[in-house]
Amino acid sequence: QISDVELQEILDSRGNPTLRVNLHLDTGLTATADVPSGASTGSEEAVERRDGDPARYQGRGVVGVAASAGAALSRRLVGTRLGAAEDLRPLDDQLRDLDGTPNFASLGGNVAIGVSMAAIRAVADNLRTPLWQLINWLLNERLERPVQPILPVPHFNVINGGAHASNGLAFQEFMIAPLGISRLADRVRAGAEIYHTLRQTLADHQYDVGLGDEGGFAPAVHRPETALTLLVEAIKAAGYEPGPDGVAIALDPAANSFAQRSTMPSGPATYVVDNTSYEADELIDYYEQLIDQFPIWSIEDGLDENDWDAWSLILHRLGDRVQIMGDDLFVTNTGRIRRGIRQSCANSVLIKPNQVGTVSQTLDAVAVAYRAGWTAMVSHRSGETADTFVADLAVGIGCGQLKSGAPARGERTAKYNRLLEIAHDSDVADPYPLPGRLRPIGV
Ligand code: PGA
Ligand code: ZN
Repeated sequence: QISDVELQEILDSRGNPTLRVNLHLDTGLTATADVPSGASTGSEEAVERRDGDPARYQGRGVVGVAASAGAALSRRLVGTRLGAAEDLRPLDDQLRDLDGTPNFASLGGNVAIGVSMAAIRAVADNLRTPLWQLINWLLNERLERPVQPILPVPHFNVINGGAHASNGLAFQEFMIAPLGISRLADRVRAGAEIYHTLRQTLADHQYDVGLGDEGGFAPAVHRPETALTLLVEAIKAAGYEPGPDGVAIALDPAANSFAQRSTMPSGPATYVVDNTSYEADELIDYYEQLIDQFPIWSIEDGLDENDWDAWSLILHRLGDRVQIMGDDLFVTNTGRIRRGIRQSCANSVLIKPNQVGTVSQTLDAVAVAYRAGWTAMVSHRSGETADTFVADLAVGIGCGQLKSGAPARGERTAKYNRLLEIAHDSDVADPYPLPGRLRPIGV
């Protein structure tokens, strides 16, 4: 049983306040979770509650939230059973009840996800089960055909732009994905070796080697082609083969941040990349050219979150060549994913627990996507902590893909290190060749 709920203000990797949740149990144990925070958020994400007191952290403090939510949650949750897997859905439902809005606007999505993550940790501890195994069990309860836990391919974000850097590069993330390398440890090694080589490649070309929010380099390149050319050069210089049989590239343009929306809220957008303006179909042409020239296997948020029709077009045009993944478009929300399935908008979904507010809803979202035959990738946020929840989530749902930033900086490597720990401590499958659904489509 829960004996107390205690929330605390701590710092995230950007130096902004965030929440730590401590769930105290009558067994004497305490389960803890730290809450991450995004910078390029989708507008339909669960609401992140902050104090708004301009005298502290420019209004971003959470001491007031911690105190009031801690008191409200203690009143409501003390005495709640929390020992078995079956206790988790009712607990998450209680959080939604207590909140009473569709998007945690009252309790705060940051409060809810912290409690929900701590709760599943408490149950895993109680059952003496690794977290990834409990997650796998909970997901399979939702599916007709069970999925196996597997170690994912890390997607290392080594060049940062968009809202994560101030370098004038429109696309937010250039990731390297060692799809063609067997064994997790060797994939991690490839990521780190290429990262270090890229530093040298950038320096050789007289670029700055300062870092963006996710630990990738943030050189003052403006054209995505330039970033991709440098990246391919670094992959080769590090001794790897660019492409699906070696190290492929995944993009997250995060197009919300360079879309200029029409006056109609759900109307089409115009996109501005390096001072060139594109209509959606022209932007899709541009992506096609990039796919022709570079070993890109996945494109996340290639279009604005309101541009549903353009998403149908990109899936139609490029969906048999690359993974078309929605992040801001779907915000880990089953309703939005279902709409994406109905309208054939994507073939993949990015999974971020704090976008939706509870672990149960996160697993619901995965189940909906899997039933439609979609792939999924688990993701950190640009504002992170040392919490490693997403590593266990990626293993447990067997999606085969995790993005957690560069292979550098403690809050990013914590997740990759947790994967290495799972690989070391368990016999979780590390399949190679990768299951067909993870092979670049059309290759
Ligand atoms: P965020 O970005 O964590 O800043 O929202 C990550 C992403 O867009 O994938
Ligand atoms: Zn994204």
